Amino acid sequence: MNATIPVITIDGPSGSGKGTIAKQLAEQLGWHLLDSGALYRVLACYAQRQQVQADEAAKLGELARLLPIRFEGERIWLDSEDVSSLIRTESMGNAASRIAAIPEVRAGLLQRQRDFVRPPGLVADGRDMGTVVFPQAQVKIFLTASAEERAKRRYKQLLDKGMTVKMNSLVEEIRERDERDRTRTESPLEVPAAALQLDSSSMSIETVMQQVLDFVQLKLSPAAS
Ligand code: C5P
Repeated sequence: MNATIPVITIDGPSGSGKGTIAKQLAEQLGWHLLDSGALYRVLACYAQRQQVQADEAAKLGELARLLPIRFEGERIWLDSEDVSSLIRTESMGNAASRIAAIPEVRAGLLQRQRDFVRPPGLVADGRDMGTVVFPQAQVKIFLTASAEERAKRRYKQLLDKGMTVKMNSLVEEIRERDERDRTRTESPLEVPAAALQLDSSSMSIETVMQQVLDFVQLKLSPAAS
């Protein structure tokens, strides 16, 4: 890993707003973006295509290392298939979360995530960005929000993407996924040391963004190093 290229990590549970904030921050800074959740989602899709089951840890680890994924602006490709919409369903999120608990899978994706570090800098969004993948990151942020608010946001996001969802089952799926992400033994979702913690439940995106930008400026100013 190149320690001279700056990295900002944004971790948190689903619906905390981390995806939106990471994207806007990367755009504002002119830095690269790593949506690490997309890697787990595409891998879940690849495993289905290859008929590899969730209990075949070694095979899943191999698929993770070989995953033929390509990010092209807003589009995400698995081989020659555009899977951008397909991977965003809650059921694919849940499938991703099941395989994400497997050590072989996490090991297979580790270096691939680190390869995203390129000048002038990287904004990385996920669950273990600040704790495991980029522990040396100069700026770490942990975003959260109440379970009700997160479910509402996911509901709106999915509707905006033209997907049909039932609020009751969504709340249940989000709760199940968060519980699994928090309690797994391998790289669980947790607050990294020295992270800025923000609860965005009653904050607008603009307010969250401003607080994040202030923190980034503080941490990246020459006086901070
Ligand atoms: O962030 P997103 O909802 O796309 O992530 C999908 C799933 O992938 C998460 O529920 C989590 O289980 C897994 N994930 C992970 N580590 C990351 C990013 C995502 O375990 N860094």
